[in-house]
Amino acid sequence: MKVLVLGGDGFCGWPCAVNLADAGHDVVIVDNLSRRKIDIDLGVESLTPIATIGERLRAWEQVGGRPMRFVHLDIAQEYDRLLELLRSERPEAVVHFAEQRAAPYSMKNSATKRYTVDNNVNGTHNLLAAIVESGLDVHIVHLGTMGVYGYGSHRGATIPEGYLTVEVPQPDGSRFTEKILHPTDPGSVYHMTKTLDQLLFFYYNKNDAVRVTDLHQGIVWGTNTELTDRDPRLTNRFDYDGDYGTVLNRFLMQAAIGYPLTVHGTGGQTRAFIHIRDSVRCVQLALEHPPARGEKVKIFNQMTESHQIGELARKVAALAGAAINHLPNPRKEALENDLIVDNRCFIELGLRPTTLDDGLLAEVVDVARRWADRCDRSRIPCLSAWTTRQAEAIRAPA
Ligand SMILES: NC(=O)c1ccc[n+]([C@@H]2O[C@H](COP(=O)([O-])OP(=O)(O)OC[C@H]3O[C@@H](n4cnc5c(N)ncnc54)[C@H](O)[C@@H]3O)[C@@H](O)[C@H]2O)c1
Repeated sequence: MKVLVLGGDGFCGWPCAVNLADAGHDVVIVDNLSRRKIDIDLGVESLTPIATIGERLRAWEQVGGRPMRFVHLDIAQEYDRLLELLRSERPEAVVHFAEQRAAPYSMKNSATKRYTVDNNVNGTHNLLAAIVESGLDVHIVHLGTMGVYGYGSHRGATIPEGYLTVEVPQPDGSRFTEKILHPTDPGSVYHMTKTLDQLLFFYYNKNDAVRVTDLHQGIVWGTNTELTDRDPRLTNRFDYDGDYGTVLNRFLMQAAIGYPLTVHGTGGQTRAFIHIRDSVRCVQLALEHPPARGEKVKIFNQMTESHQIGELARKVAALAGAAINHLPNPRKEALENDLIVDNRCFIELGLRPTTLDDGLLAEVVDVARRWADRCDRSRIPCLSAWTTRQAEAIRAPA
């Protein structure tokens, strides 16, 4: 199948693109390389050295991979080129990773808030409008987040896959049941853009019958897949800084370099996780099982397990002999929350979840140890605060 992978130079997109090419799909990567530019602006680099997109594509062919092409394009700003690309390539599917994906970066200041909204909402809307204008029947597989459901209390309820069945009382005392989009409860500007994406998909699906699968993904951990391990030039990025580093990879990397694990707040926050290898596999499964024309937006919870942050820190500390440092929380969020998630859709499609296993955790620690000298310790603290109150707390002397 011909597939455009938007954001295919990024952390989730690159291993996904090579996996799809390996599975025999005809892949065109579309990326504006903004993530690499943000690294330059923030003065930080991926812990693992990453090759340029040109080197990556050459290396992929040299190890015998099915060739992929690259188009440098900003989907949020270059609508006409995006439309022309759809018309010339006539893809059957588009996998959409191309968004600013860090919650802390989205909360850094007004400029990053505005950039995140402009980039993410415009990009998704441009894609939908261009598909309609092209007249093509293209299946969109979008990477959303578990964060759209919110990290408040769900009172022990299981979070369904996108839709909630509700009972609506009528004036005569009778009730009818209806399936509605699960209410959203974004915890940052970044998460808010994902909830807006959800509405855009709902509308274009209803109005124009655009076929969409929206993947509500948990926090991705790990770094390489079997395919990106084939050559050093295929190595995936590993973010560890306070803005882009995600919690479990940060703990593993901190353990590797002897930096006390940074637990913000009580550690009672619960989050959903998925290993990069499963993330890649899920995208392929979603792509190969599209909704029918006229079917409503398919929503899958793309996660394999939930854990409390404090519990994860204790597990990593025990594994690698690290200390734990409890720090003020830069986020405005519940002290603790429950997160029970239904992920049956992928299990029924054949996903065999990779769960937190000491071997895989140790593998990430090994990667981090190998590149420890590339780490700038001054970039580890999380300094982007949700409000001025949180900013004061994190800057107060310990
Ligand atoms: N990494 C995670 O833990 C995680 C968890 C849940 C959901 N997701 C979602 O998965 C997607 C990919 O995340 P990631 O971790 O790979 O992020 P990333 O920042 O590494 O990759 C995103 C890629 O998209 C590109 N991009 C951004 N805006 C673009 C634009 N306007 N036009 C063209 N290209 C653009 C960037 O240059 C980058 O290569 C995001 O939408 C994110 O919200 C990620």
